[in-house]
Amino acid sequence: MHVLVTGGAGFLGSSLVEALVESGHEVTVLDNCWRGRRENLKAIEHDIVFIEGDACQASSYERIHDPDRIDIVYHLAAINGTKWFHEEARMVMDVNLNSTLASLQFAEKHNARYVFTSSPEAYGESEIMPLGGDESSIFPAASQHQRHAYGASKYLGEVAVHHAVRHGLDARIVRPFNGYGPRLLGDEYGQVVSMMMKSALDEGVLIVHGDGHQTRSLTHVDDLVRGIQQAGELEDLSGMSFNLGSEREITMLELAQQISRLVHQETGTLPELVFEQGYPGDSKRRTPHLDTARETLEWNAEISLEQGLLQSLRSML
Ligand SMILES: NC(=O)c1ccc[n+]([C@@H]2O[C@H](COP(=O)([O-])OP(=O)(O)OC[C@H]3O[C@@H](n4cnc5c(N)ncnc54)[C@H](O)[C@@H]3O)[C@@H](O)[C@H]2O)c1
Repeated sequence: MHVLVTGGAGFLGSSLVEALVESGHEVTVLDNCWRGRRENLKAIEHDIVFIEGDACQASSYERIHDPDRIDIVYHLAAINGTKWFHEEARMVMDVNLNSTLASLQFAEKHNARYVFTSSPEAYGESEIMPLGGDESSIFPAASQHQRHAYGASKYLGEVAVHHAVRHGLDARIVRPFNGYGPRLLGDEYGQVVSMMMKSALDEGVLIVHGDGHQTRSLTHVDDLVRGIQQAGELEDLSGMSFNLGSEREITMLELAQQISRLVHQETGTLPELVFEQGYPGDSKRRTPHLDTARETLEWNAEISLEQGLLQSLRSML
């Protein structure tokens, strides 16, 4: 099949592109390298077509050679990273919404199947667990904080996808739960696992937000990629949503302790735990409702946290 991956140079996107190439698909990547990197695709650079361009602009899609041949669009381009949600709320909304609308329009015009990478954050501050069924999204007053620039943009993206489905498009939604693994950036705009690992390695400290009792369902990138690919390739799934997340919940304090032990084991240095104030709107728990992914995609997270954390740490040494 011919496949378009927007955001294909990023953390999840580059692993998805590798998996698609390995499965024999012809892949075009559209990424403006805002956060993604061409080096992420180095191993397969001769097997793909790379278009450096803005996924929000219709003109970027016009650069795709023979667009009617595209069978599936995997839309991953977005601004991701909690610090950005607060600092650059309008940019987050602009990119996340407009890239979704433009890529949906491309899929409709060329009759391609569409897979939207949403997020559990589309549920806002819902405390119903497991998360990701037909419960309502809960967003606090916008005057409180801007974090949900991201979650609300994913919520509206889901609305747009369902609108397109009602108008005849074959489209599916996936919601990865806290992906981690090699290539995750460890800077202050990154995600918890790589940020903890980087500061432990560079500065000998592990920063825990709040009291550290908030939990996450950390899911290895290879498990996520398998689920995303299945959600794109199986027939008769239009209008369906799939939560992709590990059932193992871990508190951020336990995560910090585990990473501290691993850093000690691998480098001989024991990092110190430091507690700092977290971001407003940070959820206390985020664990996935898995019935649909399990029954329809036969998907389960398979890579253990111990194995995945060790692999991630070694990729940063
Ligand atoms: N990583 C996770 O745990 C997770 C969880 C839930 C949802 N998601 C979603 O999955 C997708 C991929 O996330 P990720 O973690 O790989 O993030 P990432 O930042 O590594 O990847 C996003 C990619 O989009 C590109 N991009 C940004 N703006 C663009 C634009 N205007 N035009 C073209 N490309 C643009 C970036 O350069 C980057 O390569 C995102 O949509 C994200 O919201 C990720």
